[in-house]
Amino acid sequence: MLIDAPLPAGYRFRQLTADDHQAVLEIDAWAFPSSGSLEDAARSASPLTWERAVGIEADGSDDGTLVGHHASYPFSRFPVPGGELPTAGLTWVGVHPQHRRRGLLTAMIDLHLARCRERGEALSALFAAEYPIYGRFGYGRAASDVRVTLRRGAALRDVPGAAEHTVRVEHASRERHGDLVAGVHRAAGAAPGGLPGVNRPGWATRETEALRTAYWNDNPAFRRGLESRRIVVVERGGEPRGYATFRRKLDWTHTGTEGTAHVGEVVALDAAAARALWGVLLDLDLMTETRPFLLAPDDVLTQLLVDPRAAGPQLVDNVWVRVVDVPTALAGRRYAADVDVVLGVRDAHLPDNAGAWRVRASAFGEASCERTDAAPDLELDVRELGAAYLGGVSLAALATAGLVTERAPGALAPASAAFGWPVAPVCSWVF
Ligand SMILES: CC(C)(COP(=O)(O)OP(=O)(O)OC[C@H]1O[C@@H](n2cnc3c(N)ncnc32)[C@H](O)[C@@H]1OP(=O)(O)O)[C@@H](O)C(=O)NCCC(=O)NCCS
Repeated sequence: MLIDAPLPAGYRFRQLTADDHQAVLEIDAWAFPSSGSLEDAARSASPLTWERAVGIEADGSDDGTLVGHHASYPFSRFPVPGGELPTAGLTWVGVHPQHRRRGLLTAMIDLHLARCRERGEALSALFAAEYPIYGRFGYGRAASDVRVTLRRGAALRDVPGAAEHTVRVEHASRERHGDLVAGVHRAAGAAPGGLPGVNRPGWATRETEALRTAYWNDNPAFRRGLESRRIVVVERGGEPRGYATFRRKLDWTHTGTEGTAHVGEVVALDAAAARALWGVLLDLDLMTETRPFLLAPDDVLTQLLVDPRAAGPQLVDNVWVRVVDVPTALAGRRYAADVDVVLGVRDAHLPDNAGAWRVRASAFGEASCERTDAAPDLELDVRELGAAYLGGVSLAALATAGLVTERAPGALAPASAAFGWPVAPVCSWVF
């Protein structure tokens, strides 16, 4: 079915269905080169929600062949500071190299944002394959994660209760661990470290059956020389308190062995469980180093390591956020301090987001956002609003870079404090 939405001449949008699985894999392989074969890829079920997948056909292309595509995941409860909002997780964006830089991505983003509006999704979020792509469309880097390389036996501070856990190290399987992983993951996002009242913004869950199936499908063709997925589960009092997934790779050298443990999600319900998990991950036989992925900058590991500097921490952009509907988004989160501020927002793509918005909230309480004729206290582009939205990038920091302008003297510091959040945003998996 064709979709009537603007595109450069010679191209047309087509609504994709499950029958397009192969065509999507083909265009995806053009956009993201991989040594894996399409046949291998096709053996895995698609993670896509097909009614949210759109292809582009070109005049003169073979029937059914795509030259571009995009899709989104339905995050009906995407965590924002102090709440959850329906959000579109933009994904599987690609354009064939022969058709690049002709405006196809620009047209796809326009369609994506229009459909977010129709579906009542006030936010769109994504992981960016390349940093410079999405800012022009109003997406701001809203979260970072920290990458570290840990030597085997890296010292950790003690946490009372850590030794009381029983540890299981097993092949990861959906039958055995699916419910456990989903339950612990959700609880850890709702109350990181077991702290009540402060959720982890950006902590998206794998909400659809297709996403869960894709997550647990450990296709050997895509292991890049690593072993199949393993899992550590720590339990206390017979209850799961945390899990970590990992895959090892071992090389034999003339002096012995070089092993790397590549760690996926490390999710714990409190510090003792986290300490128990890291104790296992940092002492795997034959492994010289352990490499976790997508840790929040304030992850408990950064406090437990005796020498975090030795782990060579690097900050990498994590989730990007696009505010699609300013009043719904700003009223739909909570604020870390009382606030009453008028934001002057610029938005070149969605003009009805532009203008003055009055945001009022009490600390950690209800918030409102209304259009106003009052003069803005602060002015910013919607891209910067997206960057600040999850509470991980301060309005003041953006102002020091000239990206937020304080029109009412004294307005910036209190608004910046209110837009912050006690827990850093992060998403624990790439979507
Ligand atoms: C990224 C990609 C989708 C862009 O598609 P495209 O159709 O070439 O994009 P457009 O022609 O609409 O470009 C719009 C603007 O973005 C810029 N742009 C696009 N891709 C860019 C990139 N990778 N880096 C920097 N700028 C980029 C273009 O130069 C253009 O700028 P202009 O408006 O100033 O002329 C395409 O290059 C691609 O498939 N890349 C490989 C896969 C990938 O990275 N996908 C994104 C997954 S998150």
